[in-house]
Amino acid sequence: MYTGLLHFHSLLRWVLLLLLIAVLAKAFMGRKGGKVFGPGDRKLSLFTMITAHLQLVFGVVLYMISPIVQGAIANMGSAMKNAPLRFWAVEHLSMMLLAIAFLTIGHIKAKKAATDNAKFSAQFLWFGLGLLLILLAIPWPFREVGADRGWF
Ligand code: HEM
Repeated sequence: MYTGLLHFHSLLRWVLLLLLIAVLAKAFMGRKGGKVFGPGDRKLSLFTMITAHLQLVFGVVLYMISPIVQGAIANMGSAMKNAPLRFWAVEHLSMMLLAIAFLTIGHIKAKKAATDNAKFSAQFLWFGLGLLLILLAIPWPFREVGADRGWF
């Protein structure tokens, strides 16, 4: 189960990244072009949120069963002095939680804003901040913490 879930969690990152780029591009063009915030924009925002929350659920399960995380938690004192263990026990989890909170705020603010322009602006700001954090918290293969991991 652990390996399958890890692969799924890894693949789902790309779906989320593509959705986030689509939301940001639509919000940017919508604001610039003075477009109407239509049902398509609402659905895209909702679908992105659902994907992010799915990723959160799988992440929480992985956190509970991952031998790396469990090993780190068992000896938190020394894990905090070890960069890769600290990343898995604390940093990945907390940055992703914050990023998903930003996406949720953006979704709600876009829904509640009074004008189309304000809806696109809220989306652009909060989804942009969320994407930035997610990019920083992913264990990319070119980082020390992701050196033994792949792109998918
Ligand atoms: C936007 C949200 C997230 C993204 C894009 C994301 C992305 C990733 C990626 C790319 C990996 C590496 C997969 C691999 O090497 O095959 C990973 C692993 C992992 N993630 Fe996430 N993650 C997210 C949220 C979370 C959250 C919220 C948690 C915890 C609550 C979490 C816990 C974990 C754990 C425990 C691992 C595996 C550690 C191990 O190798 O045993 N993730 N994540």
